[in-house]
Amino acid sequence: MSNEESGTSEQTLSNLLKEDRRFDPPADLAAEANLTEEAYARAAADREGFWAEQADRLSWETRWDRVLDWDDPPFAKWFVGGRLNAAYNCVDRHVDEGRGDQVAIHWVGEPVDDERTLTYAQLKDEVSQAANALAELGVGTGDRVAIYMPMIPETVVAMLACARLGAPHTVVFGGFSADALASRVDDCGAEVVITSDGGYRRGAASSLKPAVDEARTKTDKIRKVLVVQRTGQDVTWDDDVDVWWHDAVGSASTEHTPEAFDSEHPLFVMYTSGTTGKPKGILHTTGGYLTGAAFTHWAIFDLKPETDVYWCSADVGWITGHSYLVYGPLANGVTQVMYEGTPDHPAKGRWWDIIEKYKVSIFYTAPTAIRSFMKQGREIPDSRDLSSLRVLGSVGEPINPEAYVWYREVIGGGRTPVVDTWWQTETGMILISPLPGVTRGKPGSAMIAIPGVEADVVDDEGTSVPDGSGGYLVLKEPWPAMLRTIWGDDQRFKDTYWSRFKKQGFYFAGDGAKKDDDGDVWVLGRVDDVMNVSGHRLSTTEIESALVSHPKVAEAAVVGATDEDTGQAVCAFVILRDEAGDGGEDIVEELRNHVRQQIGAIAKPRQIMVVPELPKTRSGKIMRRLLRDVAENREVGDVTTLADSTVMDLIQQGSSGAK
Ligand code: WTA
Repeated sequence: MSNEESGTSEQTLSNLLKEDRRFDPPADLAAEANLTEEAYARAAADREGFWAEQADRLSWETRWDRVLDWDDPPFAKWFVGGRLNAAYNCVDRHVDEGRGDQVAIHWVGEPVDDERTLTYAQLKDEVSQAANALAELGVGTGDRVAIYMPMIPETVVAMLACARLGAPHTVVFGGFSADALASRVDDCGAEVVITSDGGYRRGAASSLKPAVDEARTKTDKIRKVLVVQRTGQDVTWDDDVDVWWHDAVGSASTEHTPEAFDSEHPLFVMYTSGTTGKPKGILHTTGGYLTGAAFTHWAIFDLKPETDVYWCSADVGWITGHSYLVYGPLANGVTQVMYEGTPDHPAKGRWWDIIEKYKVSIFYTAPTAIRSFMKQGREIPDSRDLSSLRVLGSVGEPINPEAYVWYREVIGGGRTPVVDTWWQTETGMILISPLPGVTRGKPGSAMIAIPGVEADVVDDEGTSVPDGSGGYLVLKEPWPAMLRTIWGDDQRFKDTYWSRFKKQGFYFAGDGAKKDDDGDVWVLGRVDDVMNVSGHRLSTTEIESALVSHPKVAEAAVVGATDEDTGQAVCAFVILRDEAGDGGEDIVEELRNHVRQQIGAIAKPRQIMVVPELPKTRSGKIMRRLLRDVAENREVGDVTTLADSTVMDLIQQGSSGAK
């Protein structure tokens, strides 16, 4: 790989490839598996036919007349002419088919014993009520609605109510700041925001409504705010704007007839970090997205909706929460667990208590969580009965082999396949993953593309690299849940994903990867200015802009440094303005808080170093590779392309006393 960022990853990788542990699928699982080996060949022989078969898992009011329209790439249309309602598919359909009494959601609040169970029939009533209430507030087909909520059932209800009305939702993670919320609301023009007074986190009530109040001072788009009462804390109230959920939704009718929408009708916009400061609104539409989410959830977790109890620990504010907590699982009609709080409240082992109590059989989480459990030691999970588990999943960042094996052995009792699933906000669905009944698992490798998906690793010219070599991860053919565009910015959509390998027509994912000698894929991580902190995507540029917006800062450079717990951690280098002097003794804390206020707590740098200069090439590009060397306490690499090669000495002297 020519990319200058790849140096350390290559080293790590050559160690990784020595990994020779292999895990065969359990015989009983393989014998009953939803997908078998032949699915790969079947899908390759007739890809569109294969996806049409998968679309048939859904209930369509009008069947499509063309599977894929790729006449104007990169703008895809799937299941053209088909009409359906996503909420009907996730809720009503199960009731109509006689499964209304089945539990849809076992909701577990953070305070112990604060629990709620919703059957599919109850979910249908609540979604219908919420849809009626939103319509009453003036929300119509095509109107955008922002959702800024904790992990409570009303969040799922709100999303489905929007889908039912054909009003695309944009869920903004509750950990984001008022500024971040306002800029997303502004970008997609949402006039209604659904929020709550707050939620429970680490044993205390945290608040959300004040951030919405503040966002209203930064954008004039917001007309109405629908507020769920979760904690009962005091809130400021504006009678012209604020409406209690329990009043509006509570009093609404449980009868609501869902309308069928075009397969390409927008379902939601999910903002994600890119390489520039401005987050991208990733647009997903209805028919293809729901087909992709439902199929992959069924195939990759080997889902048996009648008997499995599924739990995905992701927050609904991220794409994993959308595809594998809301749309995939509910379209498949499974019983699932949803948990509000943190893994260690009121004590370590809370997650294992939940798995034991609800007999969770499929569990999906992130490597960063697994690593933190490894640190706590196996005694905690060992003292619980986790024998109900049969498939484990991992997502968000590469899972290191030790974490994979620990997950399989300690949590999965040595019985459970681990599916390491690679995908992105943009892809909408898992694209590269083992299949639990087919694949011989290899710790650390996401293995190969699932049936119906064409992924590859290519060199700078777009040529497929031979086994044993590294390059860029690309997708060679369209897939149903692919993003359709960036909200309001078709040009940025083309430039970001389709220009790198324009000649070949490949989608460029932004990840580096390697094919091992068997042709299996090892994802190495981003090759652009995007960091991955605890499985969350953050843009270096966005954090740099936040820092530079502080009056004392002249210039800033941010890098993702390797971190044992969080995968990567945010490390910032700042040059202060002359008039700021040394910035004062609290300058580091002041800047960290500034980033929190501008973006959110997840973006707060682990480390800020005040430096006199930044290393730049002659063309003025900051050499982040060198800064990463400093942040990771390594000897600084090759400095010959620097405009001024003494700069690194200055930085190192300056950073020696940094916090
Ligand atoms: C990374 C999360 C290695 C990758 C679903 C990707 C992974 C980015 C894996 C997308 C995995 C996700 N192995 N890396 N199994 N899964 N990634 O949009 O860098 O929040 O491009 O979607 O996470 O992050 P996003």
